[in-house]
Amino acid sequence: MIERKVLIAPSILSADFAHLESDIQRAESAGTALFHLDVMDGHFVPNISFGPGVIRTINSITKLPLDTHLMIESPDRFLEQFRDAGSDILTVHVEACRHLHRTVSRIKELGMKAGVSLNPATPLSLIHEILPYVDLILIMSVNPGFGGQKFIETSIEKITHLSVLIKENNLSTIIEVDGGIDSTTIKRVIDAGAHYLVAGNAIFGDRNIETNFKQLHSLTL
Ligand code: DX5
Ligand code: ZN
Repeated sequence: MIERKVLIAPSILSADFAHLESDIQRAESAGTALFHLDVMDGHFVPNISFGPGVIRTINSITKLPLDTHLMIESPDRFLEQFRDAGSDILTVHVEACRHLHRTVSRIKELGMKAGVSLNPATPLSLIHEILPYVDLILIMSVNPGFGGQKFIETSIEKITHLSVLIKENNLSTIIEVDGGIDSTTIKRVIDAGAHYLVAGNAIFGDRNIETNFKQLHSLTL
């Protein structure tokens, strides 16, 4: 189930792909409520990750919701494939969509929750009109493309502004934050108004998956 509360979303990008099944099961047994899946095409971002095939495999390993983050150009071409692979939330980048309202409408028509993401240098003003139509806004707190980067501090102010905007409009939009979330940044991000905290390196980096999840989770309480 997709809920609007404070949750950590482990990013599979930092998992060990030779042990994907056990990494997913370990995160799940530690108490994870959803997984964040980073799709990269080598065009929108300077990196290539995985696509619907891997997501289908992940969907066969876990029953938890799959939060798919598309860092790809012209995502409209693939929306159905990502739904069929098992995505529950599908997030596209505002910078990659020419007709964002059409894309968001199609994601919802396909039965998924619709998310829209903004790069660190993209102003919040670009999502004013689409806000009432989306279930989730994903604020990038690093430049997308790689795990393990440093949190960009000005993201805090952006999250605060978004939180105010959502309240002013009486909406129940989920705020997700992605990049550089660890024990030193998580509290400030939550205080600014975030609900879903994506964490890759901080969960999978040193392989102490259960301990890392529990430690980060304790900071959300
Ligand atoms: C970056 C991805 C993130 C990434 C976060 O482009 O969108 O989801 O996995 O990794 P960390 O938590 O290591 O910054
Ligand atoms: Zn992501």
